[in-house]
Amino acid sequence: MVQFTLPKNSTVTTGKTWPKPAGAKNVKEYHIYRWNPEDGANPRIDTYFVDRDNCAPMVLDALIYIKSNIDPTLTFRRSCREGICGSCAMNIDGTNTLACTKGMDEVKGAVKIYPLPHMMVVKDLVPDLTNFYAQHASIEPWLKTTTPAPEKEWRQSPEDRSKLDGLYECILCACCSTSCPSYWWNGDRYLGPAALLQAYRWLIDSRDETTGERLDNVEDPFRLYRCHTIMNCAKACPKGLNPAKAIAEIKTMMIERQL
Ligand code: SF4
Ligand code: SF4
Ligand code: FES
Repeated sequence: MVQFTLPKNSTVTTGKTWPKPAGAKNVKEYHIYRWNPEDGANPRIDTYFVDRDNCAPMVLDALIYIKSNIDPTLTFRRSCREGICGSCAMNIDGTNTLACTKGMDEVKGAVKIYPLPHMMVVKDLVPDLTNFYAQHASIEPWLKTTTPAPEKEWRQSPEDRSKLDGLYECILCACCSTSCPSYWWNGDRYLGPAALLQAYRWLIDSRDETTGERLDNVEDPFRLYRCHTIMNCAKACPKGLNPAKAIAEIKTMMIERQL
């Protein structure tokens, strides 16, 4: 079992340049962060060449090509391949995004790939999301009620349902939280944009009956108020969501309940 540890230091060295695929006429160059906690070596950047004539167009396709044809030790997460599961979030060409929805030809020159920033690294492109998921769990992301359950279902008007638009689509990819400077420096105590967007999703759900309890749960100088409206989160979200707006709405709810 791999231990979750930080790279030994922040020095990233130049790694191996792998040979170009034999016979390839049209190649795309990749510079990819590699780190193996078990070999005791510093992180390094390996260079690969992908045969564009034998590889589908997305960055995730290139990673799968490299793993299948060049270097089977390259480690990354992926599942759905269509922007739904959030597993393949990584930093591509300086931006947090999903490898499966990022076209490799959108990047001029070599494609540079790192794990999501400011996270512990498990291996290569795999960040440790233990704290991120624990923060999501801490906002209790499920319907909580106090009245007896109806015979069939908790009903909601179309108007109230529409208040969840722009929130329910979150795929918990962590692109927003790992682009947020406040989260970089206080990620152990600040909930971050992803968890707070989810907190707001349940705060404004008309069926939920624990709004006061939910507000108490996030009302804290660190858990909520470390957001300084820097807006990196909204720029980073590959689903086009706006966590900063959701956080502002929570702050407004805090003020309104004191009036
Ligand atoms: S708006 Fe708030 S949550 Fe979003 S990046 Fe800025 S500080 Fe982080
Ligand atoms: S708000 Fe967007 S960037 Fe943040 S976790 Fe959800 S889908 Fe990912
Ligand atoms: S593999 Fe599921 S979002 Fe990219």
